[in-house]
Amino acid sequence: MNYAGVSTVTTIGLNVLPVTVEVDVDRRAVIYDIDIVGLGDTVVKESKKRVKSALKNSGFGIPQGRITVNLAPSDVKKEGSYLDLPIAVGMLQAAEVLNRDIGEFVFFGELGLDGTLRKVRGVLPILLSLSQGKNRAAVILPIENAREASAVRGLKVYAVRDLKDLVSFLNGYSKKTPVEFVQPDLEHAVSADISDVKGHDFAKRAAEIAAAGQHNISFRGSPGCGKTMLARRIPGILPRMTMEEALETTMIYSIAGLLDDKGLISERPFRSPHHTASTTAIIGGGTDARPGEISLANNGVLFLDEFPEFRKDVIEALRQPIEDGTVTIARAKLTVRYPSRFMFVVAQNPCACGWYGDNVHECTCSWNDIRRYNRKVSGPMEDRIDIFVDMPRLEFKEYASRTSAETSLQVRERVERARKRQLDRLSAFRLRSNSQMTHKLVQKMASLDSAGGKLLESAIEKMKLTGRSIDRVLKVARTIADLDDEETVLARHLAEALQYRKKTLEL
Ligand SMILES: Nc1ncnc2c1ncn2[C@@H]1O[C@H](COP(=O)(O)OP(=O)(O)O)[C@@H](O)[C@H]1O
Ligand SMILES: [Mg+2]
Repeated sequence: MNYAGVSTVTTIGLNVLPVTVEVDVDRRAVIYDIDIVGLGDTVVKESKKRVKSALKNSGFGIPQGRITVNLAPSDVKKEGSYLDLPIAVGMLQAAEVLNRDIGEFVFFGELGLDGTLRKVRGVLPILLSLSQGKNRAAVILPIENAREASAVRGLKVYAVRDLKDLVSFLNGYSKKTPVEFVQPDLEHAVSADISDVKGHDFAKRAAEIAAAGQHNISFRGSPGCGKTMLARRIPGILPRMTMEEALETTMIYSIAGLLDDKGLISERPFRSPHHTASTTAIIGGGTDARPGEISLANNGVLFLDEFPEFRKDVIEALRQPIEDGTVTIARAKLTVRYPSRFMFVVAQNPCACGWYGDNVHECTCSWNDIRRYNRKVSGPMEDRIDIFVDMPRLEFKEYASRTSAETSLQVRERVERARKRQLDRLSAFRLRSNSQMTHKLVQKMASLDSAGGKLLESAIEKMKLTGRSIDRVLKVARTIADLDDEETVLARHLAEALQYRKKTLEL
């Protein structure tokens, strides 16, 4: 045989496109060589060396002649090393090592020089897309990707160890059972429990409200008071992930190559990039348009610790994705879109030295320094944060107290109930939480009783609330009412919401 066609795929962001690897052998040529054509990147170009060695070291010959490998369609760029396997299979077919029709299979995997198959990234989106396709092909992939494959229902996936294993299976010398679908456990335990946090009832209550309404939240307090500790525990009080959310999150991790040995990710992500991180690391991009921290945080929490230390351009770049819930990464020839719907959580000290307002340590900052430090988190970014909390130093008796606090699961139950109330009210507008309400919806959904109306009026006057901050207070009040199982926002809900406005430091 002088020709073989092998099915595989390529991905652009989360989109999956079918690709055929064609192998043609010209046996009359004088010079034996391999050419790869069809818009492959440098990694694909290197495939030929890996494939050659892998075939040789597995004891299979390379077809004698000049070999042309064409990656069709040729107008779509193909990236990555997972084309090794389909190319090798094409050669095995052309060399008549394989003795059957392989049209029913889709192949992908990287080859080691000894013929072992190596794990490739981005497998889950491919499998999901194939499982939704009309003519569901069977898939052959590296054994190290089997865990990922177990998250996909209704697709025949065979995991193979190396080229010998593959040939033996395809030729019918050995049998393989397809990877078994594992019903994912979305009822998982919480990895860091909120009951670990002593005291701080006010901040914990604020975190619960934030989780319930998906409100962005800011914690301010002296070093060591527990800001980071509390922030880390927010994913555990958020509602459990739906299957759809878990798949979406897992796909993004798969594309980023961060899936390790996990199957489906069932715990909401918590991402905490360092303040020196680059815009590309946070937003996404680079030569292969990988997802950034904001997409890795999708369906979970993006936490910016020491917020004023972050670079201005990074903060600036965050505005659009926070607003839209998606991010578009444009490269030379290719535009990729990733979701970026996360809860935005920030923490900061009250001043550069950290001790302003502390009753034991002395603050060494000047008034101007303190003002400047706090002004960094102002303007457009501040407008995207609904809840501000100042955390006091922990008193010794609170720290030493043995009374057991509520667990994350107890808090989560209330959060889930409040979220359900919001969904019932907002799903007609294709919204999921109170934080997403527009001004119009706030007017409609957060109507106050008469006492509430009076309270708002006096608050506007005394606290000099602007239009935007009124909406923010009303959204939070709506969430507090939802936690309280009340359809009307009452004065007490509004009174509590007013406590979470940003307080200017009294200098
Ligand atoms: N409220 C608290 N309850 C229990 N441990 C605490 C509390 N606050 C601080 N700690 C302890 O102090 C450590 C430092 O807290 P951390 O959250 O990093 O402070 P911050 O981020 O405010 O500087 C925590 O890892 C924890 O061991
Ligand atoms: Mg900290």
